[in-house]
Amino acid sequence: MTTLNRTFPHTRPRRMRRDVFSRNLMREHTLTAHDFIYPVFITEGEGIRQPIPSMTGQSRLSLDELLKIAQEAVDLQIPALALFPVIDADKKSLDGKEAHNPDGLVPRAIRLLKSHFPQLGIMTDVALDPYTSHGQDGVIDASGYVLNDETTEILVQQALCHARAGADMVAPSDMMDGRIGAIRTALEDCQLIHTRIMAYSAKYASHFYGPFRDAVGSGGNLGKADKKTYQMDVANVNEALHEVALDLAEGADMVMVKPGLPYLDVIRAVKEEFKAPTFAYQVSGEYAMIHAAAANGWLDLDGCMMESLMAFKRAGADGILTYFALDAARLLQGKQS
Ligand code: PBG
Repeated sequence: MTTLNRTFPHTRPRRMRRDVFSRNLMREHTLTAHDFIYPVFITEGEGIRQPIPSMTGQSRLSLDELLKIAQEAVDLQIPALALFPVIDADKKSLDGKEAHNPDGLVPRAIRLLKSHFPQLGIMTDVALDPYTSHGQDGVIDASGYVLNDETTEILVQQALCHARAGADMVAPSDMMDGRIGAIRTALEDCQLIHTRIMAYSAKYASHFYGPFRDAVGSGGNLGKADKKTYQMDVANVNEALHEVALDLAEGADMVMVKPGLPYLDVIRAVKEEFKAPTFAYQVSGEYAMIHAAAANGWLDLDGCMMESLMAFKRAGADGILTYFALDAARLLQGKQS
């Protein structure tokens, strides 16, 4: 018996994969709780933790319950929460003016969180969709078209309202042109120089936002309308780079790509081009898909959760907005191999 005629590989990548120690040594990316921003849904009332059917494990929280979740986030070393309000129907209007009510749900939540957890970063969504009776992110004309500059003026008021209440980061998710510059100028004029802006720069007109719209109750109001006249065409990547360039030039501190997993190429392109702090939003539909498959026994929940989160780091994201934040941080605390 001879093996003389066989040629063997000189390079065997499997050598390094053979043992835990060498796999650990050559691991290129790591995930920690510091990578996460946890989006939470808040609502009026007390003692309310109302489960969101399409988002297993996520609930609409009254502010007293929000404090308990914030405590968990702090204990798990998650750096920040992102607040999304569920607004009562009688407070919604054509112009969404509740969005800049200084005694509204969001500013009250910010003040409460800051008084209990001054070190926990608080990010707020700047957009009108939770507040408009038609579910669009801005004010509309008779044809339903979202008016850019009129909307931007209201967004500036909303951002100032959040910043005055103590928000650390405001995050315009509306995709109006020029809103980052307008908000930055207003913040500077009001001496709110430490308020960071995370721009939803490359936000696509995606179908993956469905469960979120259920959660905040904007989907029903939106009806069959879409957001394609302001959110980006899913076919485009150069346009994303253009949007990011504009937002950085207008004063954004951080930029975001949204949705997440189907847009890893965009995250990579943005990071390579600008080297700016770049974030990904693993949106509600992505979260719902993983949960739904796991509930059927088709996918391993923890495994897919961690794999999807690591993919964002690999693509170049500095951090991830994810509904998995608490679960993933808990898992990371438990075993770090
Ligand atoms: C709205 C907003 C949306 C999300 C965050 N901010 C939905 C939309 O644009 O309709 C989606 C987040 C998610 O799906 O998890 N300004």
